[in-house]
Amino acid sequence: MLRLLVIFSIGIMFLLNGCASSGLAEKQDSEISNANPTEAITEKSVEELEPVVTSGLGEPIQEQNLMPSNGGATSEIECEYTEAIKGTPVIDGIMDPIWEKANVVNTKPVINPEAATAKIRTMWDTDYLYVYAEITDRVLNAVNSDMWQQDSFEVFIDQNFGRSLSYEEDDAQYRVSYKNIISGMGKVELALFKSAAEVVQDGYVVEIAVPLSKVKGSPNNLIGVDFQVNDDNGSGTRTGQSHWNDTTNTAWQSTAVFGTVKLIDVN
Ligand code: BGC
Ligand code: CA
Ligand code: CA
Ligand code: CA
Repeated sequence: MLRLLVIFSIGIMFLLNGCASSGLAEKQDSEISNANPTEAITEKSVEELEPVVTSGLGEPIQEQNLMPSNGGATSEIECEYTEAIKGTPVIDGIMDPIWEKANVVNTKPVINPEAATAKIRTMWDTDYLYVYAEITDRVLNAVNSDMWQQDSFEVFIDQNFGRSLSYEEDDAQYRVSYKNIISGMGKVELALFKSAAEVVQDGYVVEIAVPLSKVKGSPNNLIGVDFQVNDDNGSGTRTGQSHWNDTTNTAWQSTAVFGTVKLIDVN
């Protein structure tokens, strides 16, 4: 009983505190071998811009999902952290030269070790957090009627870094499929949101502008952010997921499981 109580309290501490944001972003030199677009950029149609919002109502959070994956063995839970450089890329699915200077982070498989993963760069200006994600996924599929079961990339944003257990007015989940179909949950701002997707060799590239409308981007701001890749292996259903920080598949409901992005005044 006591043990259960201790585990429960540590779980609650984890939820309230999230994870300790420590460690410096790794600056990586990263040549992309597969960034050459093989398809022309398709303009988003109005229809595609319509929010395709999945309710997720059929998926109550399992109690065990709320526990830290390490069982709370240590109070110093490492949180993923990176620093976004300042700049304004063109949202066209093509890597602007300035992206080469950006820090790189990766998603890790959480469900299915074979899950598609993403190599991600971040940048900011006053109005947007920009994301350039190169997803390695050799089998692309978008047949499932649930957008989150299709091959797609997700960005979660907690603009005021509130780390709340449910989404507030500044929190949103944005999902972009490899076909550049947009969906999401929370306070999505589709009038401001921008994205482009390109199929490339061995996967796809997604370039995104996430509105910073509730807090303007400014140097040293901390923003709660997470990234997720949904992978359908060709079977018509999601068979794998990789994430940057969240290991519980609750980022679509709780901002407490996001990693941290610091906006730095470097370009
Ligand atoms: C989650 C799904 C959830 C969906 C809701 C995804 O990120 O993985 O489990 O139903 O978001 O939008
Ligand atoms: Ca670009
Ligand atoms: Ca928030
Ligand atoms: Ca796939």
